[in-house]
Amino acid sequence: MDKLVIEGGKPLSGTIRIHGAKNAALPIMAASLLADGEVRLLNVPRLLDIEVMLGILSRLGCDTSREDEEVVIDSSKANSFHVPEDLMKQMRSSIFLMGPLLARFGEVCIYQPGGCAIGERKIDLHLYGLEALGATIEETGSQIRCTANKLTGTDIHLDFPSVGATENIMMAAVLAEGTTIITNAAREPEIQDLQHFLNQMGAQVIGAGTDTITIRGVKKLGACEYEILPDRIVAGTVLIAAAATRGSVILTNCNPSHLVSLLHVLRRAGIQIRAYDDIINVNGLTRPKVVERIVTSPYPAFPTDLQSQVMVLLSLAEGTSIIKETVFEGRFKHVDELVRMGADITVDLYTAIVRGVPRLFGATVEATDLRAGAALVIAGLAAQGKTTVEQVHHIDRGYERIEDLFQSLGASVYRESPLIKQLDPA
Ligand code: EPZ
Repeated sequence: MDKLVIEGGKPLSGTIRIHGAKNAALPIMAASLLADGEVRLLNVPRLLDIEVMLGILSRLGCDTSREDEEVVIDSSKANSFHVPEDLMKQMRSSIFLMGPLLARFGEVCIYQPGGCAIGERKIDLHLYGLEALGATIEETGSQIRCTANKLTGTDIHLDFPSVGATENIMMAAVLAEGTTIITNAAREPEIQDLQHFLNQMGAQVIGAGTDTITIRGVKKLGACEYEILPDRIVAGTVLIAAAATRGSVILTNCNPSHLVSLLHVLRRAGIQIRAYDDIINVNGLTRPKVVERIVTSPYPAFPTDLQSQVMVLLSLAEGTSIIKETVFEGRFKHVDELVRMGADITVDLYTAIVRGVPRLFGATVEATDLRAGAALVIAGLAAQGKTTVEQVHHIDRGYERIEDLFQSLGASVYRESPLIKQLDPA
């Protein structure tokens, strides 16, 4: 398993272009199954999860290809609605295939994606929405089989604004007969990107970005070309890393309006932020100030996907901050590792009390999930001395070669691959 070796204490500086959003690309790639013809996607990030999704689409009979950040998917020869269990296990986001496969074939066979490090990750809201549209759902062990002779538009209220459930229902409803109205829908920018993509194929979807989305069913959808929006969580991760290392960085190809809650927190921490068009300039000139309370919640509130990263910044602040995690029950797995680096953090169920310390110290730590791993990289960049982050494959799911990203900003970080190390005579 690869490791990252970081020599910390160097302020980040320079300019970085933010890559496309994993959490927009995955549902949009799944939705390409709805098109009759070829879909060309631009600004697609080069990530493990994207490769797995391409593999699944190929197993379903699609022709897929990728060159740099461009992905082409032709689903005209798609011939299966059975998502293999081994691939479901590889990536729980395969759940996004339910809606499109059901809409296209009238049937889908998938497996419970199961929980992961950050939580149980239930899918009851996904199944509730598909059932409301007319699907019959049979669960046998971990296998889930959905069938529907016809999908009929209806009103669907979500008890929780689930991102994935909102997206699956949108993708199932675009070819349903009649109109579907989703209330208490998720409002994330990735939902808006999915709406724009579906409409580019000829769908009639309005309201994404608000809590009410209306989908007027159409007979068929056609091929299109679409550019994926920038990854706000990668951008937020870089902003926090620059602040934690007291650096000065310019981010390009990002969307400041998707990061309002983070920019507000950084400004309250005394970090200098200038945002205009698709550029954000961050200067972490001094030790961060305390931010009394951060509560993660669905968009546009503070995103759970930036909680572990901002905790690193506040672990270096002058005073005590409180961070409350309300979205995933297992999202404090990075705390123990940060404490081993000298942080002073105590956790009471879903609340972390973060008492700032003057500095962190390098250590060997283990990434347990994608964003916790990113947080440990930030801690290593800010810490005094050497940090080794293990289980880097978690991080590769959401960041294109994170070591190259931070090396380009002046960090001393390199990837140690066991195979290469064995071949290395030195
Ligand atoms: C998406 O996950 C993202 N993943 C997550 O990003 C992100 O953290 C999350 O939205 C919240 O913003 C992708 O888009 C691929 P949810 P998703 O359904 O759709 C509960 C990352 O690091 N819930 O909004 O799974 C669930 O248990 C990843 O990039 C149900 O109870 O998130 C959780 O507590 C991590 N029943 C909460 O809702 C359901 O049917 C949020 O889940 C569905 C969800």
